[in-house]
Amino acid sequence: MSQDSLVMDGNNGVDGSADTEQEVNPLGLNRNAPMSPERRFWVGTACAAGGVIGVGAAVPLVASFAPSGRAQAAGAPVEVDVSTIPVGEMRTVEWRGKPVWILHRSPEMLATLETTNDEVADPNSERPGYTPPYAQNPWRSRKPEFLVTVGICTHLGCSPTPQLAATPGPGLPADWEGGFFCPCHGSTFDLAGRVFANKPAPDNLEVPPYQFLSDTRLIVGVDEDNQA
Ligand code: FES
Repeated sequence: MSQDSLVMDGNNGVDGSADTEQEVNPLGLNRNAPMSPERRFWVGTACAAGGVIGVGAAVPLVASFAPSGRAQAAGAPVEVDVSTIPVGEMRTVEWRGKPVWILHRSPEMLATLETTNDEVADPNSERPGYTPPYAQNPWRSRKPEFLVTVGICTHLGCSPTPQLAATPGPGLPADWEGGFFCPCHGSTFDLAGRVFANKPAPDNLEVPPYQFLSDTRLIVGVDEDNQA
């Protein structure tokens, strides 16, 4: 099973480098065309890259992006070896035309969730439709160290920029603990994908169906209620 992946380091977000631009443009995207799932994925990726430019953040792209396969485009589950994701870094895979982020959180990253718990709009992820039961816990995941979430803003569908380091920057509060920033309208999410209160985005980032096949093998798109 093929994997499409971007790996980003823990200091910044999505890379706005020429590599990303070169992969978007050859698709010949038509802004007026209906938003197919595959197109939405690429638009989201481009939105993230544009957002980086807009906020002036420098974001290193660590790994390359491989083209998606036909089965994957049709929505087949995506298997990921999470042992290859360094602590503090994240990988992006494509599932059903959406970017899905897998963040390997460090103990320090997990500790920030106790602080942000009082600042997010839905700390227990109780709003329906965005968090499966197995992720309705303080870290919003099956395993505390691995966040799995769809990288599409719940406001109008931009792809937020990972701002994983606890370093304030443009559009971020002075006490930023790390998380994700949507440059389109300024929504911010913590390191569990929970939206901060009083932001345009109404809900937390979606947690897709997923499960672990072993300690290191994760599959996106399949869980107790969703079978491929
Ligand atoms: S699309 Fe993210 S804040 Fe509007």
